[in-house]
Order: sequence, then C-alpha cells, then structure tokens
Amino acid sequence: MFGKNNFLCLTITIFLFSFSAEAQQMMKDMKMMDNNKITKAVCVIYPTEGNTDHGIITFTKEKNGIKVVADIEGLKPGEHGFHIHQYGDCSSKDGMSAGGHFNPDNMPHAGPTVKMRHEGDMGNITADANGKVHFEWTDNLLSFEGKHSIIGRGVIIHTVRDDLKSQPVGNAGARVGCGVIGIAK
Ligand code: CU
Ligand code: ZN
Repeated sequence: MFGKNNFLCLTITIFLFSFSAEAQQMMKDMKMMDNNKITKAVCVIYPTEGNTDHGIITFTKEKNGIKVVADIEGLKPGEHGFHIHQYGDCSSKDGMSAGGHFNPDNMPHAGPTVKMRHEGDMGNITADANGKVHFEWTDNLLSFEGKHSIIGRGVIIHTVRDDLKSQPVGNAGARVGCGVIGIAK
C-alpha cells in the first residue's frame, strides 16, 4: 500500500515539475521573441512574364537606418526604377498586384535623398553592359516596425528609369521584376 502511494506521489511530483519546467521555458521563449526585434530582411527578385532579371536584396538594420544591398542580373543595361511597393503580392504576371509605391505617410513621389517622398522611393539601380547590378544604399526612412515596416511589402524593378519627379510613380514603366520582403536570420 505504502509503495503504491509513494509511486503515485512521485509520479505527480515529476508531472508537476516537468509541467512547470515547460511553462518556464515557454515564458522564456515568449520573452525572447519580444526582445528579438527584426534586424535583417531579404527579398528574392523573380522576373515578371517575358523578362529574365533575378537576384537578391538584403535589408540590414544599422545605426543610421536600414542598409539595402541589391545584387540583380538579367536586366537590360542602364537605369531601372527600384521601389518598395505597397503589397507583397507578385501573383500577377505583370507585377501589378504589388500595388503602388509604399507610402504610409501620404507623401508625393520623389527621389531617395529627398525628405518628402514615398517611403518606398529607392530611386534607380543601374545595370552594367552585362545586365548586372550591385547596389548599396542606407535609407533612414525604412523600418522593420510599426506602420513604416517594410516586412511583407513588395519590391519592384521597372523597365526604364524613374525620373524621381513624375507623379505618382516616376514614369518608370512596366514592372520587370518582383519580390516580397521577408524576415531573415
Ligand atoms: Cu515601382
Ligand atoms: Zn514613389
């Protein structure tokens, strides 16, 4: 009799202990998630129908903004409009499903160095004679948090140059590449 009770007691103790250890770990994980703010994001660019451009863009949080590094190839040589668009939706063949420029503050379209601009206005990237681009830009308007967060938004590469002034999208023409910004490690 005594042995049976002892066994039951032990079983309950082990159960309670493991439960509380699990609960503690869960709380720890939740705290970590809270403290683990997003510091890096990535966007893989795929060509829209009839185009060949593709590449990778990384967004890394730095002291004075978010550093954007783009490596794209398969473009026509020359300048191409390069923006963050409202929707991370590349489902349409022409990239139009990504919507207009990401513009949470209701600003006019402009160039990346202007204060009054769409948040998504990153200007142009320039492809070399081989159709390749390496582009770096640190942007102090972009954010990974709140209403300015670029996470889940789209990136569009256009067929021609953004003139940085025509409304609402800089006259950059058709959309040749599209990607979605996701959280990275
Ligand atoms: Cu665009
Ligand atoms: Zn714009």
